[in-house]
Order: sequence, then C-alpha cells, then structure tokens
Amino acid sequence: MKGIILAAGKGTRLYPMTKPVCKPLLPIYDKPMIFYPLSVLQQAGISEVLIITPPGETEPFERLFGDGSRLGMSICYREQPVQRGIADAFIIGADFIGADRVCLVLGDNVFYGDGLEEKLAKAAANEDGATIFGYWVEDPRAFGVVEFDAEGRAVSIEEKPERPRSNYIVPGLYFYTPDVVAIARGLEPSARGELEITGVNNVYLAQGRLGVVTLGSEFTWLDAGTEDSLLDSARTVAELEKKTGRCVACIEEQSFRNGWIDAEKLRALGTELEKTKYGKYILSLLD
Ligand code: G1P
Repeated sequence: MKGIILAAGKGTRLYPMTKPVCKPLLPIYDKPMIFYPLSVLQQAGISEVLIITPPGETEPFERLFGDGSRLGMSICYREQPVQRGIADAFIIGADFIGADRVCLVLGDNVFYGDGLEEKLAKAAANEDGATIFGYWVEDPRAFGVVEFDAEGRAVSIEEKPERPRSNYIVPGLYFYTPDVVAIARGLEPSARGELEITGVNNVYLAQGRLGVVTLGSEFTWLDAGTEDSLLDSARTVAELEKKTGRCVACIEEQSFRNGWIDAEKLRALGTELEKTKYGKYILSLLD
C-alpha cells in the first residue's frame, strides 16, 4: 500500500505565519506538523510515501526527509500547481499509486491513541473497498459529516453542512482501492471549486464499498488549521507527552519499531538531535 500526505495548503487561514513557510512545516509543540501525519502512515506500515507540496515549496520538505532512506522509507515529492481540492491528490499521484491501494492523510491532521495501529492495520488490509473514520466533535459544521442508521451503517456524508445530521466528522485519513484515481477524475468541482474528498467517499458509499470506523473518545484527533486549533494541538501533544512519557509522532522511533532502521541508525539520528528533548527521547529508546 502507498501513502500520500497532502501538504499543499497555502494555509491562508494562518497568515501571516504561513507567508514565509507553508502550514505543514509550522511546529506543533516540539516538531513540524507534518511529522504527525507521516507517523500515521508509518503506523499503518506504509513505507512508500508521496508528499504533495505547494508550488515552489518542495525544497524545505526535502531538507527534512530527503528521499526517506534515513528513515528506511522511500519519500518522493510532487507539487500541486493550483489548489483544486483534496481529491486532486489522486490525480497528481496517479503514477505513484499505479495499481496499489493508497492511504491519504492530510498534512494538518493529528491522530493519537492506544489501539490506533490496530485500526490502521485493519483499514490497510481491506482490499475490497474504502475505509474512512468517524470522530465525535461538538461542532461538526466545518468538516465532512457522516450520518449513521440505527445499525451503525453510514447512510450519508455531507461536506460542511449548515445543519449537520450527526456529530461525527470524517477526519483527514482515508484508505482507498486503486480505482480511486478514476473516481477522482470523474468528479465535478463543488460550489467552492474543489474536487471534494466527500465526493469520492460518496461514490464508494453509493457502490456499497465504504466502511466507516468510529474512533472513540480514547483517541485524539486534531485539525491544526487555525490559530486556536494549532495552539490547542500543541497543548494537547505537550500534555500527552508529559502524561505518558512517550513522544507523539516520533518518526525515528516508528521506523525503528517497524524494523525499517536498526539500533545503530536510530542512535545516529538521535545523536544529531541530542541537544533537544526530542533527540534525547530517541536516544533513550536504546537503553
Ligand atoms: C477537509 C475535508 C473535510 C474533512 C477535513 C478534516 O476540510 O474537506 O471533509 O472533515 O478536511 O480535517 P478542509 O480542511 O478542506 O476545510
């Protein structure tokens, strides 16, 4: 299975912060935002990743990850020339996806929770259809919203509805079959001029090929797209790390746990960062 991180948003809702640097490179507490979605792909066991960047802004991402080999991964980059919506990721990534299934994660989404790896592994193993998630929030109006029937089956998904039919939003993490490329190519732009991911999900839903897995309150989901949610995300990560003594989204640790790098490589990566708590945490894993 392949992985795509859509990190192409200009982040206009975060101006002036995102004038010099694009949103997924802003920090959430102690590490760049993009570490969080990358660690989700790693937890799903995905080592081949495409990062979609804004035009002319690939270089700072390359500085962070290079070709991914330091993490025992393969990471490549492609630009999104114009902002055409989330589903455009599959058109841009068509060659990269090829005949494989693909997981898409949005560059500003944070997921955390014990048991997340199991949920991801299950989603990654679904060969017949798509898997998306549902997460309860107080105010779902800014998101894709999924409605369930009495048996817990998804019956509708609406993008940013004024009158939401449930409190379950669809977070920015989606697992699809290879024909998602053809589905994306067949979409019409929405009223806001975008190829909506909700449009893709509705095609799978109509075909009876959409699984919606709820993430309960034991999971944390955050969208760091506004100044308040960015601050909230940083606070939440800091609290989680203090409480659990574990680092959230430590990509070096995840590569090590996945067996993609050995202890010697982990030590070298930790040593480069040893002045920071993050680097010290990496080195502590070797004790
Ligand atoms: C996008 C999707 C929406 C989803 C959300 C998750 O919203 O369109 O369905 O719930 O990401 O972060 P946007 O960030 O484009 O407002």
